[in-house]
Amino acid sequence: MNKKILITGGAGFIGSHVIRLFVKQYPEYSLVNLDKLTYAGNLENLHDVENESNYRFVKGDIVDYESMKDLFLKENFDGVIHLAAESHVDRSLENPAAFAITNVVGTLNLLQAAKIAWRGQFDKKLFYHISTDEVYGSLEHGGYFTEETPVDPRSPYSASKTGSDHFVKAFHSSFGLPVIISRCSNNYGPNHFPEKLIPLMIHNILNQKPLPVYGKGENVRDWLYVEDHARAIDVIFHKGKAGEVYNIGGNNEWKNIDLVMLLCSVMDQKLNRAPGTSAKLINYVTDRQGHDLRYAIDSSKLQTQLGWRPSIDFPAGLEKTVDWYLNNREWLEHVTSGAYRDYYAGMYHNR
Ligand code: NAD
Ligand code: DAU
Repeated sequence: MNKKILITGGAGFIGSHVIRLFVKQYPEYSLVNLDKLTYAGNLENLHDVENESNYRFVKGDIVDYESMKDLFLKENFDGVIHLAAESHVDRSLENPAAFAITNVVGTLNLLQAAKIAWRGQFDKKLFYHISTDEVYGSLEHGGYFTEETPVDPRSPYSASKTGSDHFVKAFHSSFGLPVIISRCSNNYGPNHFPEKLIPLMIHNILNQKPLPVYGKGENVRDWLYVEDHARAIDVIFHKGKAGEVYNIGGNNEWKNIDLVMLLCSVMDQKLNRAPGTSAKLINYVTDRQGHDLRYAIDSSKLQTQLGWRPSIDFPAGLEKTVDWYLNNREWLEHVTSGAYRDYYAGMYHNR
C-alpha cells in the first residue's frame, strides 16, 4: 500500500538510519525527511539514498508552527515518525531553554498541525513519537524500566522529552489523535555525532587525545545498535497499537569505564598499537551534574506483542562501529570542525 510518511530529524544519527531502512524496504512509499540541519543534522549521512525516487528532503523547523501547518495541509501525510529533537544531555545543562523550545514546543506544533490537517481522517493516520528511556529517571543497581514505570525526568533534556510525551498523550486523550510513543535506551553505531560517549572516545583514541570519563566511570547504560532501533521503529510503526507506549532496549548493560576500556583494546588492535596504549589516555573528569546512575530497559512487551528483538550482539556491533569510523574519517573530520570544536573547547576547558 502506498503511504506518504513524514520523518522529522532524518538527517540526524537515528533518523538517517530510519530513512535508509524505509527507503530500501518500502519502494512504494513516499518518504519526506524534514530537518532543520542543526549542528547535529548532516545530509552526508544520507548520500547513498538521496536520489531515490521514494525519498525527498525538506529543510524546515518544527518550532515554526505556521510552516508546519502549511506542510501538513499541503502534503496530507498518512503518518509521522517524529525524531527531531535536541538530544544531548550535556548541552541541555548549558542551555535548557533550547530543549524546551525544540522538544516541547516543536512537538506540540506537529501535533496541532496533524490534528488540523487530519480532521475527519484520524482512523487512517498515525503520529509516532520517538522518546527515550531517560524519561523514567535513574535506577539503582537492580530492576528495569517497564512501560508502567512512572516518569521521573532528572535533566533538562529528559524533562523536555517527558513534556513532549505528555503532550502526545494529551492529544490522544483529549482529541483522539492516534499516537504511539516508544522509549529506547542508548544507541550506538555509524553516523553518531562525536559529542556522545562512543564516537567521542573513538575520535579521541584515533587522535591520541585524552578520554574524558565522567566521575568514576561507574554509571551504567544499556546499549543498542542503531539499526536494531530502526527495525524496532519499523515494526512499531506498522504493527503497534495506537495509544500504546513501547520500550526498546538492548538488554546490554555496560559501566562506562568498562565500555571505554573495551573500546581502547579494540582500537589498539585495529590501529596496530601495543595493547594498553589507548587506555593510558583515560582521564577522569568532573562528573556530569545530576548524572543518572543507571538505565536498563525491559522491552518484553515489544518482543512478545510485536515480535521484535535485537539482532546484533555488542562485540559485533562495536567492531562494525569502529570499522565504520576508521573507514569514514572524512565524515569525522567534517563534523569535528567549526562549531563543534568551539563547543568541545567550552565543555572541557576547566577539567
Ligand atoms: P540527533 O541529535 O543526532 O539528531 C536530531 C536531528 O533533529 C538533527 O538532524 C537535527 O538537525 C534535527 N532537529 C533539531 N532541531 C530541529 C528543529 N527545530 N526542526 C527540525 N529538525 C530539527 O539525535 P538522535 O540521537 O538521532 O536522536 C533522535 C531522536 O531519538 C531524539 O528524539 C532523541 O530524543 C531520541 N533518542 C535518542 C537516543 C540515542 O541514544 N541517541 C536514544 C533514545 C531516544
Ligand atoms: O538513554 C537514551 C539517551 O542516550 C538518549 O535519549 C540521548 O539522546 C542520548 O544522548 C543518550 O544520553 P546519555 O547521556 O546516556 O549519552 P552520552 O553518550 O552523552 O553519555 C553516555 C554515558 O557516558 C553517560 O553516563 C555520560 C558518560 N560520558 C559521556 C561523555 C560524552 C562520559 O563519561 N564522558 C563523556 O565525554
